[in-house]
Amino acid sequence: MLTNCTTTNHADGKGLVVTAADRVGFDTIDRVELMASLAEHGYIVLRGFDSDPTTFSTLIQSVSSRITLDPARKFAGGNVAQKIEAGLVPQGLHVENGATPWVPDLVWFYCETPAKVGSQTTICDGLYVWDRLNARTQELFLSTRITFARPMPADKWKNLVFRLLDGAKSADEVTFEDLLTVTDDDVDVKYQLRSDGSVHYKYYTYAAHTTMFGTDIAFTNSILTPSVNYEPPVIEFEDGRPLDAMLMRQIMEATELETDEIDWHEGDVALVDNSRLMHGRRKIRDPLRSLYNAQSYAKDEIVSAVHNRAVLSRRSA
Ligand SMILES: [Fe+2]
Repeated sequence: MLTNCTTTNHADGKGLVVTAADRVGFDTIDRVELMASLAEHGYIVLRGFDSDPTTFSTLIQSVSSRITLDPARKFAGGNVAQKIEAGLVPQGLHVENGATPWVPDLVWFYCETPAKVGSQTTICDGLYVWDRLNARTQELFLSTRITFARPMPADKWKNLVFRLLDGAKSADEVTFEDLLTVTDDDVDVKYQLRSDGSVHYKYYTYAAHTTMFGTDIAFTNSILTPSVNYEPPVIEFEDGRPLDAMLMRQIMEATELETDEIDWHEGDVALVDNSRLMHGRRKIRDPLRSLYNAQSYAKDEIVSAVHNRAVLSRRSA
């Protein structure tokens, strides 16, 4: 992928670790190569590069059309990345913002200070999880959507819309109509504005679906969602059936068997395809650990270039 870099699989033949020999900058990375590798491997760890919050932000901006943030978290580092402050408890596997109507394409991490012990980020490829589910469960998730429903306090949804409007208005000026405007047309969600200014939403989505780069089915969703910053969502099938204990057990077993860990090194950057992989974390055993997070939508032209390259290589094969 790069000169002066070595590449290895991250774990069990999954993921890709790109190690720079002499702390070169992220500007040496070919963006289409980077995203083509992401399409192949699902996630990439960039190790040994000349990294800091600013170069991290520049890298994100170079492949992203839009950068979004979790409105419940605080900013840190160039107004692009946020420091993860979700307490010390472990977090279950989830799609970033996957329980909301604003699901980003890409999730990014930058490790400023690794933990001395434990505290790994967990990562799980939904393509492999899908193969572990039995045919009946696969049929259920292909035929029936799931829903996530919950209220969002006024300050949180307004802050998110403010970010998505990209500075067109201040957070105080954001209206309910703006919320509708920044919601993509292909997203199925019902909003309800309440008298206290909060918005209750019900978001409909398939738990199993194709991915940003491929047509294979991935079981990638936020059913095992953590709810650190918000009221937990109610999760059920769209016909009102619950996700019963047997089903949850099957999901937990399948995901657990496909879960690997990222053991952070200082300065590591990880890029994750949020349409294919779920992530979470082990218990934080070192409170000095410092990890930044960002979320973004990939530039259409880069995604198209990766698709075109895949078509060309299939033809020449
Ligand atoms: Fe997350």
